[in-house]
Amino acid sequence: MKSANVVWHHATVTRARREAQNGHRGVILWFTGLSGAGKSTLAHAVEERLYQLGCHTFVLDGDNVRHGLCADLGFSDAARKENIRRIGEAAKLFLEAGVISLTAFISPFRSDRERVRSLVPHGDFLEIYCRCPITVCETRDVKGLYKRARAGEIKDFTGISSPYEEPEAPELTVDTDQFDLDRCVDAVIAMLRERGILA
Ligand code: PPS
Ligand code: ADP
Repeated sequence: MKSANVVWHHATVTRARREAQNGHRGVILWFTGLSGAGKSTLAHAVEERLYQLGCHTFVLDGDNVRHGLCADLGFSDAARKENIRRIGEAAKLFLEAGVISLTAFISPFRSDRERVRSLVPHGDFLEIYCRCPITVCETRDVKGLYKRARAGEIKDFTGISSPYEEPEAPELTVDTDQFDLDRCVDAVIAMLRERGILA
């Protein structure tokens, strides 16, 4: 649904000016993967590293955002689609602010992730697949949700009763069951250097 009779107002403090002042480009680091794959842990650890380098950053995390902006949404396919649409729009605002945003959402549907990619200029959306077999996620069971899902207490649970569509061409894949957190953070930082986002 589009709002009628609204006209875009152009800022004088532009993205380019903000980035010049920040000393780095804005970008969206989109972490995707199963529950327990390591999205939140990795996003916050990368943010910590970037913060120490003097970068302007912000983490948008599924669990937190679902307490506010998306508190009205459940886990049906349609609700997840709307969740990712809102997060995509929020991440786009952070991009305009010249910030490196790090999003940690399961974002199970390829089409929803690709829609976010298409919202922003080429190269400003970097998809990072936190790859981890469901057996390992289930063993980790950080929040005890897999156990409850297996017991039938949680419906539409990703990987059990709701699908997860793996990225086909992510900018980076990190195998969180094979490499420790530091090594995964290093891989993300190396990608940012290769792409000229960090000097
Ligand atoms: S989605 O699919 O992108 O809209 O999901 P997201 O916003 O990332 O929220 C996932 C977190 O919600 C908890 N949770 C569930 N996950 C998957 N399926 C179901 N049914 C579900 N119910 C609650 C779970 O803690 C997810 O957090 P993470 O950090 O991924 O474990
Ligand atoms: P998600 O946000 O995808 O649900 P979490 O970050 O909440 O996942 O949980 C991942 C769990 O896996 C944490 O307990 C974390 O310590 C552990 N873990 C082990 N190795 C890694 C790794 N290489 N990267 C991220 N998390 C890891």
